[in-house]
Amino acid sequence: MSTPVEITLAGGVQTIRLNRPDKKNALTLPMYQAMTEALTAADADPAIAVSVFEGLPGAFCAGNDIEDFLGFARSGELGAPILAFLRALVAARKPLIAAVDGLAIGIGTTLLFHCDLAFATPNAVFKTPFVDLALVPEAASSLLAPRLMGQARAFELLALGAPFDAAKAERVGLVNAVVAADDLSITVARAALALAQKPPGALAAARALIRGDTVDILARIDQEAAEFAARLRSGEAREAFTAFLEKRKPDFSRFRG
Ligand code: COA
Repeated sequence: MSTPVEITLAGGVQTIRLNRPDKKNALTLPMYQAMTEALTAADADPAIAVSVFEGLPGAFCAGNDIEDFLGFARSGELGAPILAFLRALVAARKPLIAAVDGLAIGIGTTLLFHCDLAFATPNAVFKTPFVDLALVPEAASSLLAPRLMGQARAFELLALGAPFDAAKAERVGLVNAVVAADDLSITVARAALALAQKPPGALAAARALIRGDTVDILARIDQEAAEFAARLRSGEAREAFTAFLEKRKPDFSRFRG
C-alpha cells in the first residue's frame, strides 16, 4: 500500500518522496511528521549521508493542505508538526537536496531555502501565494529570500505571489541547474552519491560554515509563525481557504476599510 511520504535508503542516500497524487502532494500534518522523523533519523544514522526530497512527476508539492489551514483557522492553532519540521530543516547536519518537477507551491518552494542543492526540470513552477491566502511567508523565507535574491525579487515571489519558472529560479539562485525531466533522477543521484562519498566530518563542518549561524533563522521562523497564526484566525484567511475549497474566486471586498 502506498504511503504519502515514502522513505528509502540506498548507497547512503535517503530519499524522502512525497506521494499524495490525488492532492498534488499537498502536505498534511502526518506528512510533516514523517519528514521530520526522516531528517532526525538521517542525523542519527551513520548509514545516511544525505537526504533527497522528491515529489511526483508534475507535482513536487502543492503546499500545505488548505483544508488543514481551515481547521487551524477554526482552532486558532498552527499545527505543531509544521513548526517541528521547519526547525528540523534548520537543525539538519547532513546535506539536503531537492529534485523538483512541476508544481512547487508554498512550502514546496520555501523548503528549497534550506536545501544545499536543488535541481528543477523546465516544467517546474515556484510560487508562494501566501498573501493571496491572507497569510505571511514561512520557513524563514522572509529572511532567506531577500538574502538570496535581493529585496525586489523576494517581494515579487513572497508578497506578489508571482510564479517563477525554472529558468528564473536558476537565475535567482534558488536552484543549481535546470535539467530535462528524463535526467532529473540521474542528476540528483550523481550529486547525492558524490556527497555520500566525501569524508563526513569535513562535509558536515563545511556545510555548517556555509549555512552560517542559525539563531536568526530560528528566531525568524518563530516570528513568522506568530504572525501566521494570527493571520490564520482572520476573516480574510477564512474567506481565502473557503473559496479555494469551493473552487471560486475569493471576495475580500468586505475587509477593505
Ligand atoms: N490543499 C488541499 N487540496 C489541494 C491543494 C492544497 N494545497 N492543492 C491541490 N489540492 C487538491 C485540489 O483541491 C484538488 O482536489 P479535488 O480533486 O478533490 O477537487 C486536487 O488537489 C487537484 O488539484 P487541482 O486544483 O484540480 O489541480 P490543478 O492542476 O488545476 O491545480 C494547483 C494545481 C496546485 C495549482 C492548485 O490546486 C492550487 O492552487 N492549489 C493550492 C496551492 C496553495 O495555495 N497552497 C498553499 C500554499 S501556502
